[in-house]
Amino acid sequence: MKLAPARQAAFGALLAVERGSWSAESVAAKTAHLDARDAALASEIAFGVLRRQGELDALIAALSNRAVERLDSAVRIALEMGLYQLRFLDRVPAHAVVSDSVELARRAGKSSAGAFVNAILRRAARERPASDEHFSTPEWLFRRWVAQFGLAAAESIARESLARAGRYIRVPPHCPAPEGAQPTGVPGCYLLESGDPGPYRFQDIGSQAVVPLLELQPGHTFLDVCAAPGNKTAQAMESGVAAIACDVHLSRAKTLLPLGIPVVVMDGRVPLPFARRFDRILVDAPCSGTGTLARNPEIKWRLKPEDIPDLHGRQIAILLNALTALKEDGLLVYSTCSLEREENEDVVAEAIAASGARLERTMRRIPGTDPGDGFFAAVLRPGSVAPNPVVG
Ligand SMILES: C[S@@+](CC[C@H](N)C(=O)[O-])C[C@H]1O[C@@H](n2cnc3c(N)ncnc32)[C@H](O)[C@@H]1O
Repeated sequence: MKLAPARQAAFGALLAVERGSWSAESVAAKTAHLDARDAALASEIAFGVLRRQGELDALIAALSNRAVERLDSAVRIALEMGLYQLRFLDRVPAHAVVSDSVELARRAGKSSAGAFVNAILRRAARERPASDEHFSTPEWLFRRWVAQFGLAAAESIARESLARAGRYIRVPPHCPAPEGAQPTGVPGCYLLESGDPGPYRFQDIGSQAVVPLLELQPGHTFLDVCAAPGNKTAQAMESGVAAIACDVHLSRAKTLLPLGIPVVVMDGRVPLPFARRFDRILVDAPCSGTGTLARNPEIKWRLKPEDIPDLHGRQIAILLNALTALKEDGLLVYSTCSLEREENEDVVAEAIAASGARLERTMRRIPGTDPGDGFFAAVLRPGSVAPNPVVG
């Protein structure tokens, strides 16, 4: 039986995510050979399933009377895909959805599950059960947002994580924006609803809002401690700074080479290998990424509560270390795309207590309240006490 290429690609991408790949990378890899229409449908299905997985799994459990965790993962993914299309997509014929889902389960070597998938999807297509709004967010994460931001904001964050992420591009000064691109409140950031970005990079509006906090001037020495894949470094370079980009992972550091600046593979937690100090430093720290769930929906299912203290430890070590490389009149921006207090305000407060640094201001962007991904940034000046380097 012939399978729709879009469904086959979405299934392959979701299986890869199940094995630990990132959704953006696996969808790009599985759709590379498809025409634009099929690639768009495959991407819609794969991201839609990941964003709505909580609701889809609750539906599977209700329709099958079986615990979803006990289903074979290929069968579960075929069912999630089928239910997602039946429930959330208008222009796909139900019979094609059901027969392709059955075939996907069969081709994954689960022929015995074909009848099971068929029965559940036929029932779902027939009954189209109504349900209350479902946020598809793990309860522990939702509770944290309620505690931090209040119920209304937590609901709006969760709701926003179910929507397609905006397509923002970076247009450097004096360059023409592509046709159809709409300017935003962040200079140089344009929203491109559809079409080709031309020579420009996709970069979320929240990410683009961080770099102006550095107040860069031509000739400033600029150190980007956690730089890969280099979106913020490239944006900083528009200001004519002398930049150095670093990352701990060699494979990720390689993505910085096209910037044509010195690239250093180093662990930001250990004393930095520079004899000089810098006018400006960016610590765009590794984080949970909970501000980016519309773009990286698998994060909400992978992240565990115990990951957050671990990230906090790494972030504080990198930040304290970076502060030692800042000139006396320099300025450092600490940023994350996390919404979690322990990765943001708590890191900054601890760094200030340990180093004597001064907090000049903070910026916070919350999905559902501000356009684009959620971000936190703190602008720091060095304290009068020279901080000690941190090793760990
Ligand atoms: C949020 S991403 C940076 C995104 C980048 N600034 C941009 O705008 O394109 C964090 C980066 O920190 C790197 N990283 C993680 N741990 C690190 C460490 N101990 N020292 C330096 N870099 C680290 C990761 O490899 C990752 O590339």
